Amino acid sequence: MKTQLIDGKAFAKNMTQKIAQEVKELQQHHNITPGLAVILVGNDPASEVYVRNKTKQTHQVGMRSFMHLLPETTTQEEILNLIARLNNDPDIHGILVQLPLPKGLNPNTIIQAIIPHKDVDGLTAYNTGKLALGHKDGFIPCTPLGCLMLLKSERSRLQGLHAVVIGASNLMGKPMAQLLLQEGCTVTVAHIHTRDPEKIAQEADILIVATGCSELVKGSWIKEGATIIDVGINRIKTKDNKTKLIGDVAFQEAFGKAAKITPVPGGVGPVTIACLLYNTLQAARNVRNLNKI
Ligand code: GUN
Repeated sequence: MKTQLIDGKAFAKNMTQKIAQEVKELQQHHNITPGLAVILVGNDPASEVYVRNKTKQTHQVGMRSFMHLLPETTTQEEILNLIARLNNDPDIHGILVQLPLPKGLNPNTIIQAIIPHKDVDGLTAYNTGKLALGHKDGFIPCTPLGCLMLLKSERSRLQGLHAVVIGASNLMGKPMAQLLLQEGCTVTVAHIHTRDPEKIAQEADILIVATGCSELVKGSWIKEGATIIDVGINRIKTKDNKTKLIGDVAFQEAFGKAAKITPVPGGVGPVTIACLLYNTLQAARNVRNLNKI
């Protein structure tokens, strides 16, 4: 089978161009510049890269970025005080706390302190509930939202397809399953305790993998003609001592078997950031009750 690459980079570029145009119009007609606050605690190297990319792109679409780089020693109370300030700041429309947080901090308490209408990561109980109920006016977490947008651009009809999501995190697997269910897919969620995930994956018309395990999904797991969304971003050392990014799917093995697959890098990653900007734009538009773009 000829496998086609899903070009997340091009998709994201198209999205960010539209967002930049919308930001301009929001400034011209309503005098609002969307503002995104990002909180990063500690020095996790992968998080530093993500946050730097988010900041760069926030500026590129004409939004304001408010970075809060806090030392690892920051207390929970200090973070909660900062979030309370950001919640009340009218220049800030979106707040994101980069995960994972250093040990000793409670991510649940911290995330739930974000006021839901600024929760552009879609992780508060309010927005999670909205998604589970099928309400369209909440914020959806950026990675699963990006995966769904990519899927919809690649497959004209999702209804009735068997979608298998591997990984059941709050950030990705759980909201992904909710979204696919709402599209009319039959959804199976496999996770770390699942017996024989290979057999389940073999049934998938759509296979979405977000486990953080490099090349967990082998060629033998894949049904001929499946559409594969690989959410993994794993940094490995090559033989010549360089670093390389690889996904949760053994790409070479999937090639020739899947009908479509996202590459790593250049697949889901860029679309996730574009979705964060999309949610931030929407948060700013909500101030004036403007509809979704
Ligand atoms: N860490 C990795 N991905 C994400 C994300 O989408 N949101 C947050 N807050 N942290 C992350």
